[in-house]
Amino acid sequence: MLIVIENVLDAGEVRLFRERLSAAAWVDGAPTAGSRSVAVKQNLQLDRSDPVAVELGQMILRKLGAHPVFISASLAEKIWPPVFNRYENGGHYGTHVDSALMRLPEAGLTIRSDLSATLFLSEPDEYDGGELLIEEQYGAQAAKLNAGDMVLYPSSSLHQVTPVTRGQRVCAIMWMQSAIADAAARGMLFEMDQSIQALSVGRAKDDPDVDRLIHVYHNLLRRWAQV
Ligand code: NI
Repeated sequence: MLIVIENVLDAGEVRLFRERLSAAAWVDGAPTAGSRSVAVKQNLQLDRSDPVAVELGQMILRKLGAHPVFISASLAEKIWPPVFNRYENGGHYGTHVDSALMRLPEAGLTIRSDLSATLFLSEPDEYDGGELLIEEQYGAQAAKLNAGDMVLYPSSSLHQVTPVTRGQRVCAIMWMQSAIADAAARGMLFEMDQSIQALSVGRAKDDPDVDRLIHVYHNLLRRWAQV
């Protein structure tokens, strides 16, 4: 399931990110791809240790930590620090699967990648191509979102970024380990939570029917969570 989370960054924040990133030290992104992926990856990235990447990455993590739809959809336990990338002049990333286990020794961080995320920082009319194509159970789906919006998709999927033939596509990408490893179970919990939120509108704070659903939600979460 692809989940679009709108307005992770507002227009002012996108502008700030773009200003900072336009002056940053971009380097070839191919060396950080896995041994098979390197042959199909052509883009620019910021080094993980780049102070701009560190500062903006922390801003994204703060925003996500306070975003109710993101929290409900991902049930993220651990998030890999955001990586900033830029595609231009035909840059692309051919079909690949993301690494299942990701280790960052200097941060003492190991995650099992359950969810991958792309936060778009360029407006879709600023570039041609650059679709994120995700192969799902029922066929490929494309994502090319407004600046500030993010798509969450299963890390287990095959996916690609199509060549950018005009302009620049700037994004932040990240990976997360969810408390719920199983995508189907996580998807059901998300649907249920969204319904609870919708049903709660206009009802008393102690509405017994809503309380019963919340009770079931938490007990399913308790049953399935691995933390
Ligand atoms: Ni990928």
